Formats: sequence, C-alpha cells, structure tokens
Amino acid sequence: MSGKKIKAKGSPLNELNAKILELIIGGQTVIRLNVGEPHVTTPLFLIEAGAEASKMESNNGYTFVEGAIEIRESISEFVYKMFTLEYSLDEIIFTSGAKQGIDLAVAATLADQETKPGYEIIIFASDWPTYNAIIRAHDGILVLVGPNEDFSLPLAEIRAKITKNTRAIIINSPNNPTSVIWSNEELGELAQLAIEHDFIVISDEVYNTIILEGEMPVSIASFKGMKERTIIVNSFSKMWAIPGWRAGFVLAINAKCRDMIAAKSNIDGNSCSLLQFIIKAAIDNHFEDSLAFIKKSNEEYKKNKDYICAFFDLWGIEYVPPKGAFYVFVKLPKKFGVNSEECSEILLQEGLAVAPGIIFGETCDDYIRICFATTTEELIKAMNIIEKLFIQKGVVKIE
Ligand SMILES: Cc1ncc(COP(=O)(O)O)c(C=O)c1O
Repeated sequence: MSGKKIKAKGSPLNELNAKILELIIGGQTVIRLNVGEPHVTTPLFLIEAGAEASKMESNNGYTFVEGAIEIRESISEFVYKMFTLEYSLDEIIFTSGAKQGIDLAVAATLADQETKPGYEIIIFASDWPTYNAIIRAHDGILVLVGPNEDFSLPLAEIRAKITKNTRAIIINSPNNPTSVIWSNEELGELAQLAIEHDFIVISDEVYNTIILEGEMPVSIASFKGMKERTIIVNSFSKMWAIPGWRAGFVLAINAKCRDMIAAKSNIDGNSCSLLQFIIKAAIDNHFEDSLAFIKKSNEEYKKNKDYICAFFDLWGIEYVPPKGAFYVFVKLPKKFGVNSEECSEILLQEGLAVAPGIIFGETCDDYIRICFATTTEELIKAMNIIEKLFIQKGVVKIE
C-alpha cells in the first residue's frame, strides 16, 4: 500500500440531503428546504423535446467528448440569444452538470501542476463547499477571502492575497448560499485584477437566469480582455428545473477547452448522448417556451422571497437580502446560544430541514441557509416551525 493521503471529501450538502431522504423513506415528514432544488414542475417542452430526440436512433452512440457538433451549435446560439455571449463550436463542452464543469475547469487550470507545484486558487470563505473539495482533489492550494459584512465582493482582500502563484479565482453570482449578485462595477474591478496579475476567472453562472431584483448580471467574460481568461460554467439544472438530468456546459477559449476535454475523456468521455439531443431539441424548437418558463418560475421565487423576507422582518431577524437564486441566508441572533448545526438539528426535530451555515465555511457558523424554492403551503408550514423556535428563544415580534 502506498502512503498517499486520501484527499476525497464528500459534499456535505449531498450528505445532508441523503440523511433527510433516509428520514423521509423511514416515514418521517420533513420539509426539505436544505437543498437547492427548484420545486416547479419540469416544463412540458422538455418532455416533448425528449420524445422528439428519443425517436432518432442515431442519438445512441459515442459522441465527441465535448459533445456532438449539433448540441454545440445549439448551445452557441442559445448563449448568444440569452446572454449575448459569442462562443464558437470549439469553445463549448457539454458536461454532466455544472459540478463536472467546475471539476474540469480546476483540472485545466492546474494542468501543469506537476512541473510547477504550488498553484493557488482563490475562493470565498463563504462558498458552495464543492469548490474547496475539488481544488484539494486536484492538489491546488486554497486561498480563502472574505466575507465582507454585507457579502459584497472583497476586492481589497483579493488584491492583498494575490501572489505569483495565483492561477485562478472561482466566483459565483448570483451566489449560493447568500443569493447576492455582484455589481458590474465590482466585476469590472475584479477583471482588472485578473488582467494585471494574469490569472483565470472560473465563473459559475448556474443561477444567472434566476434574477429576483434588478437586471440579469453580465458575465465577467464580457469585459474587455476577459474572454481569454474566463471559464464560464453553467447548466440547465436550475434554469429548467432538471437538476437530476445532469445537463451542463462550459464556455472557454479553445486552448482551455482542449485541457478540459483531455480531463473529461478519462472520466465519462462524452456526457449522455440522448440528453445532448434532448437539450438540442429544447433549444432549437422551444426557445420561447423556455423564456416563458423562466419568467413564470422567477415570479414564483420572487413571491416566496417577499413572503419569507417579510416574515423575518416581522421578527426583527437579520438576513442577507436575496437578489438572485433562491436562498435566504439568515443570521442567528446571539441570544439563541446555538451554532448553525445545533439550530438546524432543533429545526429538523420539528420537521424542517435547512442547511447549517458551517457547511459554507467556518465564518458562516452563525447563519442557516433556507431554500425558498418550494410551494406556498410548505413555506407557511416551515415558517410556523421557525416561529415556534423564536417564541422558545424569547424573540419578540416588531409591532
Ligand atoms: C453554486 C453552484 N454551482 C454548481 C452547482 C451544481 O449544478 P449542477 O446540478 O448543474 O451540477 C450548484 C448546485 O447546487 C450550485 O449551487
């Protein structure tokens, strides 16, 4: 046996979700606001696209690792129409979800690590935990920044932590867990830093169609000089409410794509061929339906956001105001005398599952993350459970 250290670390969000699903299978009633899963029904146009694509026998063979030419043509058109991003066929990879996209982006960024060890990737101390685990798995060195009090982009700290070994930063806006959206000014300043210090930005944009306040943000890749140093990671998981399908894509200049294709070729080769053609049929034949679905889902998320924020305002409880995505990051008052795990456990005993802040970093141990992608009925039940906790802890309503 070699003495190599095992670096693989399971996703705490997946582990928590498995625990909750086990409880439900065991007969308990639990409201699942722990997981970032759209509750809206999978749109009919995707079922139609599935039927259209499955009729074609040719969709069952291996494709290029980066996806069949046809799906890359459709994605190229889609990202132009949706986000005004111009990417040609050799700058697109169809991936098994955004999670795989992040893995490929990090692998490509650290590709020549063996000859030049010590590469650093900057991430946020309040972050989706998979970034941390993927960087470790690829032997990168993690550099943590932030969070600022209001979870704005901690530019001064990023600047201070850049070294000659900085290879990349991973950003995510709209953000999980805070639902903040970084402004174009903040992104512009970050772009300047990336250009000045020659590092890559891995931009996780999985929530960029779920905009609840203000305009859809621009991608950092749109800034002058940034296309060549940005890897955009996105997926249809949240956008079209199909997280289980594992349909994602990566956009980057060809040289970066070559490294990512090399990495992917030894993992799953091409992502599911039938899925590629379903997504293609959906893009080509149902673009307007897709826009309508996104608009309708966002109206529902916004209604839930307004309800949940009004609830916490009524009780004088602090939270990060959600601008995009579908999470509210709620600050636990000191007088609760519990950390995020203990608070989540108390709520779980009452039948409500939330994600403890500690999952997103040690600096977040006085927060819990509540996903408000759920029905109004479930949301009301969930807030009743939280209200019981407030009363127990002596929190009083603001009249
Ligand atoms: C910030 C962020 N990035 C990526 C993902 C993964 O997306 P996918 O399901 O497409 O792999 C998630 C899922 O919750 C996420 O929150």
